[in-house]
Amino acid sequence: MIAVIAHRGARSLAPENTLAAARIACELGADLWETDVSMTKEGHLILFHDPTLDRCTDVASVFPGRPSTRVIDYTLNEILRLDAGSYFVRTDPFGQIKDGSVTPEMLAAFKGEKIPTLEQCLDLVTETDWQVNLELKSHDSDSADVTIPDRTVETIRKSGICPDRIRISSFNHDWLLRVQKKEPALRVQALVGYDGHTPLDFGDLSFDTYNANADLITDDQIRMLQSKGKSVNLFTVNDPKRFHHFATLGVDGIFTDFPQTFVTHG
Ligand code: G3P
Ligand code: CA
Repeated sequence: MIAVIAHRGARSLAPENTLAAARIACELGADLWETDVSMTKEGHLILFHDPTLDRCTDVASVFPGRPSTRVIDYTLNEILRLDAGSYFVRTDPFGQIKDGSVTPEMLAAFKGEKIPTLEQCLDLVTETDWQVNLELKSHDSDSADVTIPDRTVETIRKSGICPDRIRISSFNHDWLLRVQKKEPALRVQALVGYDGHTPLDFGDLSFDTYNANADLITDDQIRMLQSKGKSVNLFTVNDPKRFHHFATLGVDGIFTDFPQTFVTHG
């Protein structure tokens, strides 16, 4: 069976990378929660996708006039003052509020939603008996984030979570090797093909699993990976026809913003 991977949680139904989006994806029956790990100024790990706080928070009104909105320039205490839910209510990024798929009660609860810490993420995964894919974000202008792999492993160890519940991915393959060396029990997955400017490069095919851009990979490349015994997950697929096509090819998992469309029960 193909794994349905909730991209940044159920991000079409809830603010991305929040605990609310994760809980909804879990209740829907998604096999895995994909989320992004970034680092604060003093080295705390949080769940956040973008290098800057503008798109998904109210940073401009909480910290008016602050010259930088980069995540790495904010402390955890400052990050926790931000509202990471209201943008979703305001912008309805996937049209699901307009469609009536998000209830007024859900919308009311999203306002004021906080950016989660990695510790909260791991607690939720354990509590819900679930699994998570932590994508370690390498925002390339930051030299400070080089400690993310080590800090991630340390946080996982401290939490006591079973390593089987975790997959670590990154476009930075050196980071994956670092994680593997530090904690061989953690499974790693190599992300490839961020966009059209960074075409798919499978390198020396030394990883067991490749998470590839669905818009860039060809059917022949999928077959090549499978013939070499690699697992293949594809991001990000929201169209049912494309999902079906990749399922027919036998890929292992699909990252989607619409787990509600693709989870099958029974
Ligand atoms: O992990 C797959 C996918 O999430 C990578 O791209 O930009 O959505 O983090 P992005
Ligand atoms: Ca991601």
